[in-house]
Amino acid sequence: KRDSTSNRYLYSSDAIHIDHDSIAGHVAITKKALIIDDVYKIESGVPYGFNRSFDEKYSYRTKAVMTVPLITSQGKIIGVMQIINPKNQNGAIHRFEARHKLIVSYFANHAAIAIEKAMMTREIILRMIKMSELRDPTETIPHVNRVGAYSIEIYHKWASNRGISLDEIKSVKDTLRIASMLHDVGKIGVSDTILKKNGSLDAEESHLMKMHTIFGARLFMDRTSDWDEMAAEVAISHHEKWDGSGYPGHVPNIQRNEILFGPGKKGEEIPLFARIVALADVYDALMSERYYKNGWSEGRALDFIQRERGRHFDPAVTDVFFSIYDIIKAIQKKYDSCVRSEI
Ligand code: C2E
Ligand code: SIN
Ligand code: SIN
Ligand code: FE
Ligand code: FE
Repeated sequence: KRDSTSNRYLYSSDAIHIDHDSIAGHVAITKKALIIDDVYKIESGVPYGFNRSFDEKYSYRTKAVMTVPLITSQGKIIGVMQIINPKNQNGAIHRFEARHKLIVSYFANHAAIAIEKAMMTREIILRMIKMSELRDPTETIPHVNRVGAYSIEIYHKWASNRGISLDEIKSVKDTLRIASMLHDVGKIGVSDTILKKNGSLDAEESHLMKMHTIFGARLFMDRTSDWDEMAAEVAISHHEKWDGSGYPGHVPNIQRNEILFGPGKKGEEIPLFARIVALADVYDALMSERYYKNGWSEGRALDFIQRERGRHFDPAVTDVFFSIYDIIKAIQKKYDSCVRSEI
């Protein structure tokens, strides 16, 4: 019943060992579904016990639990799913029955295959990012993880403010996460001497640096996956500014050797996803250390973003960013590294 739009608990995680002590660990090892009527009254003679610290942390009373292994088509275990506290028609907490196991296991098979596919895609994307990280070590995995997470949460709030359905939002978020993580992958085409220059860039260097938007878009020219189009959009337009003073602007043919930057795209001419990634990327860049600058304090970065509302940044996107700032902080905590976190 909580606000179902964005949820900062999505970005909290706890670690438990895979051993027979925990319910989840026991199921992962035995690969057998398990039903418990009341975890506070577990029978003696079983190896596992219930860890009450999670209930204490989240002020919850876990009672009936069904735990099902997630097994891939190759028989590999990639997780367990726990369903907690089923309710009957009157809303009273009920218990799981053996017949439920069948239905849930069927669902778990599909979930396992979907998760496996997502893990494989993610692996490939992360390798693309690691390739560009070899060139520009500031474009790190934590940075792209943060930009990806900020972007999808900004989109989620933006879209639910406009009454877009949760199904639509979820499907866009999957694609946007990938597209936003790849925003700077075109830096792979920029030379080391420019990328790693300790100080400001001259006009020619600056032009070559700005070419990373074009290089990125070229990587996604062939539309083979369902995220290529969005990735191309984000790569080419993430340095456009709301007031039209960004780059590369309207470029008639990104395949030509000689690229002349056009007049900047302006306002809603800039694709929404690029407007979102623009803010997410700059916020994270400001807070991080670069070859050419130190990380800014949080207060200074936030002042800057507020001042650039309607200039660099889409005003609506800026307002959404501030309205979900607790989620932004939760993401930072999760993907912590090279970000200064004082006020
Ligand atoms: P980046 O370091 O990831 O920065 C992304 C964007 O964050 C920048 O886009 C800019 O809009 C914002 N930003 C980052 N640091 C600052 C800052 O100290 N002050 C302000 N006002 N904004 C900041 P931009 O400027 O188009 O730069 C794109 C990329 O070009 C940067 O990515 C970085 O890789 C490179 N770059 C930009 N300026 C310099 C520089 O002076 N020296 C070097 N070596 N590289 C630079
Ligand atoms: C466990 O599986 O023993 C702990 C996970 C939970 O809180 O249900
Ligand atoms: C800058 O130092 O690059 C900009 C100053 C500011 O906006 O805080
Ligand atoms: Fe960029
Ligand atoms: Fe970036």
